Amino acid sequence: AAAERFAVPMPIVPVLKPVSTADGTDTYEMTMRSQTKEILPGLRTELRTFNGQFPGPTIKARRNRPVVIRQRNELDVGVSVHLHGASVPPEDDGGPMEVIAPGAERVYTYPNKQPHAGLWYHDHAHHTESESVYRGLHGAYLLTDDEEEALPLPKGEYDVLVSIRDAHFDTANGTLQYQMGDRSRTTLLVNGAPYPYFQVAARSYRLRLANHSNQRFLELRLEDDGEMTQIASDGGLLPRPHTTKAVYLTAGERADVVVDFSRYPVGTKLVLKNTGFAAVDDVSQVMRFDVVRTAEDDSSVPNVLRKLPPLPEPTAERTVVLRMDEDGRPDPKAYIDDKVYDHARVDAHIRAGASEVWTVTNANTKVPHNFHMHLVQFRVLERGGAAPGLEEAGLKDTVRLMPGETVKLQATFDAYQGEYVYHCHMLDHSAMGMMATMKIG
Ligand code: C2O
Ligand code: CU
Repeated sequence: AAAERFAVPMPIVPVLKPVSTADGTDTYEMTMRSQTKEILPGLRTELRTFNGQFPGPTIKARRNRPVVIRQRNELDVGVSVHLHGASVPPEDDGGPMEVIAPGAERVYTYPNKQPHAGLWYHDHAHHTESESVYRGLHGAYLLTDDEEEALPLPKGEYDVLVSIRDAHFDTANGTLQYQMGDRSRTTLLVNGAPYPYFQVAARSYRLRLANHSNQRFLELRLEDDGEMTQIASDGGLLPRPHTTKAVYLTAGERADVVVDFSRYPVGTKLVLKNTGFAAVDDVSQVMRFDVVRTAEDDSSVPNVLRKLPPLPEPTAERTVVLRMDEDGRPDPKAYIDDKVYDHARVDAHIRAGASEVWTVTNANTKVPHNFHMHLVQFRVLERGGAAPGLEEAGLKDTVRLMPGETVKLQATFDAYQGEYVYHCHMLDHSAMGMMATMKIG
């Protein structure tokens, strides 16, 4: 039984409650455990979960209010919980070698000193992260601040997480199939449900689109080619809103859009399509918006969303080349600067406080990549030699790199010192070695 389209409602991902809010800190407890759920009708699927939930529960955090999470690992595989896009000390970063063994636990402290951003948490244990994220170890972490909250954007029930990812089911028994390099993932899940519908009011919504796939690229469009107003990227609000018919998200990227459903009569059903790289039929539709009622709307999208500080004068420049074997060998290796990841090696030495320009190239001719750095939210200076579009004018932690493409970015390392990784966020590629270590200070 393959999943029928638009047969189930889109789940709203629950927000986790802290176990304590004492001393200006929100403290949470999570247990990572195996959990069986019905995803395809009538079938049971075994998942690796945070708290038995799929996707993991959403954490809501506020700037300058620390969050402490005790993570207990009751799975039979090691896990490292990384908060993607966050500025955190190295011991709390959840790096590839900082693994919580089965039966053990670890406490992560997140200072939340950075500005608002739509972050996410996921497993990062080297070699098994790709499979574990695929089997369910991912969740959203929404950090807000006064600046973001002061804006008249859609809020409350009109501000909705839309976590999209692909999955390859054995449709005879519901088992999730995982094989490294498998690109034939045949079902799209939104907030854990296959091709759901979402009943909306004829008014504006803020949709927090997040690509939580382990490798799939998404290009999202409304069926009528209607406009969406992109207001945020990985690192929070864009300087100015970007009106677009397509939102491009590689694995790990996020984009918030405001869609004004008041332009559609009640009764309209509108499919969200995927026209991305290698989008075969099974993944050409994502979900459907059903406009079912009218509603008041006092929200609006201001012309200026945010003022980013001017970029400092760069203190260093470096190049990074991503490449993987693409000759069809069964066990391809993947490289950064022609080296496979080795945790004992430091690949980039960075002075504390430096602001560096990195020129990152995808040296493959067929395989797309993307590029993610821990610790920092960077700025995109150039894509293919030209200034980036408005959608890349904000803060980013992950950028796409199509075959042959080069992106120039600037990152400032003034928050914490120590070792962090940078890598391709197509998780099969980082598991194959497309990852390296930078040492700050
Ligand atoms: Cu989303 Cu190195 O991580
Ligand atoms: Cu890659």
